[in-house]
Amino acid sequence: MKKSLYKLYYRTYQSILRLGAPLLPWRKPTLVQGPGSLSQLPKIIADLSIKRVLIVTDKGLMQLGMVDPLLEGLQAKGVTYTIYDGTVPNPTIDNIEDALKLYHSGNCEAIVAFGGGSPMDCAKVVGAKVARPNKPIPKMKGLMKVLFKTPTLFAIPTTAGTGSETTVAAVVSDSRTHEKYAINDTALIPSYAVLDPELTVGLPKHVTSVTGIDALTHVVESYIGQSSTKKTREAGLKALSLIHANLYEAYINPTNIEARENMLKASFLAGFAFTRAYLGYVHAIAHTLGGFYGVPHGLANAVVMPYVLEYYGAPAHKKLAELADHIGITGKDDAEKASKFIAYIREFNQKMDIPDKISCIKKSDIPKMVDRALDEGNPFYPVPRIFFREDLEILYNRISG
Ligand SMILES: NC(=O)c1ccc[n+]([C@@H]2O[C@H](COP(=O)([O-])OP(=O)(O)OC[C@H]3O[C@@H](n4cnc5c(N)ncnc54)[C@H](O)[C@@H]3O)[C@@H](O)[C@H]2O)c1
Ligand SMILES: [Fe+2]
Repeated sequence: MKKSLYKLYYRTYQSILRLGAPLLPWRKPTLVQGPGSLSQLPKIIADLSIKRVLIVTDKGLMQLGMVDPLLEGLQAKGVTYTIYDGTVPNPTIDNIEDALKLYHSGNCEAIVAFGGGSPMDCAKVVGAKVARPNKPIPKMKGLMKVLFKTPTLFAIPTTAGTGSETTVAAVVSDSRTHEKYAINDTALIPSYAVLDPELTVGLPKHVTSVTGIDALTHVVESYIGQSSTKKTREAGLKALSLIHANLYEAYINPTNIEARENMLKASFLAGFAFTRAYLGYVHAIAHTLGGFYGVPHGLANAVVMPYVLEYYGAPAHKKLAELADHIGITGKDDAEKASKFIAYIREFNQKMDIPDKISCIKKSDIPKMVDRALDEGNPFYPVPRIFFREDLEILYNRISG
């Protein structure tokens, strides 16, 4: 088939998605927010008459003792819990299966996700498996494949970036095939999101930086795509202002609680924007780098974003110029503003010690990664310009240096 026919097919598919999206059963999580707000959660759970919960987290957070106050609060309210703390960054199908066993053996009635995107996504898919016990996880890949009601999910982000606490998405990795893919279903939107900035003050600097740039990537990809709406653009612009004013401050001054709080808000708003307006090739490429080499998600996005934005060229200029305008970047025309906005991202990365290449890419893996990125991006993402195999090959080569 000719490229022009592929383009027509992709754009038609995206238009149908855009028209159908408002008919989906969207909901927003109930927000519990502010410094110390985690302490309110045990009462909320108890008031819902939930007696037993599965807590999904990771070893690092357990060792730091970060989960302890929650456990004490639950005990005080007579809520019993089972803990799964084996989630790894870029959570795997094995993680989900292990956590699911604990959900059942503990007779749990609801799930509490405590951590960054990895524990939150792991918890979401545990919920999907509770709802669809006979459906293999790989068959849930894509759009609206869960459909059934999942257990109540309470999401407590401890990083400010993924926005998973408000999105339809859960991103999982298959450690056997190195495939990393998203399951997208409105059934996966958490019922509650706790945005407590005190939980993020201890983030290591390199996690603050790359998770913050993940949120920026959500803003940019959702904004420049063709399926944005007035609401998603407004949310994206608000998130952009917050990231512009607070990410570097949170990076150099980790205990600044106001900057931390604003980054959690930004991450949530950017999550809302992209869950309605989708992403683009930055994420499609970043997911392959996570799946093949375990590159942290935010780091992959941070490195990849400037290359992809540049490669989009003129079709992205107008929207990138709007983003530039919003944070006071000036230029004689859209092209210049877009180019300055891309330079702004590069400088932001640089001042937070984020590299500009991914050095672990093996040339021999590129063809397979290109396949996977194309599979994620086309026809799904409403990108400013559609890429084909040769475009992605060029990009992987540029990114690997
Ligand atoms: N579902 C979605 O909508 C969505 C969106 C974007 C990304 N993701 C996925 O989320 C995952 C990445 O999540 P992430 O970037 O939040 O990282 P993560 O959850 O993998 O955590 C990274 C590291 O930071 C540590 N950490 C987390 N919070 C901490 C804290 N407060 N103090 C100290 N250490 C802390 C963790 O223990 C871990 O070692 C990826 O798999 C990505 O694909 C999902
Ligand atoms: Fe992301």
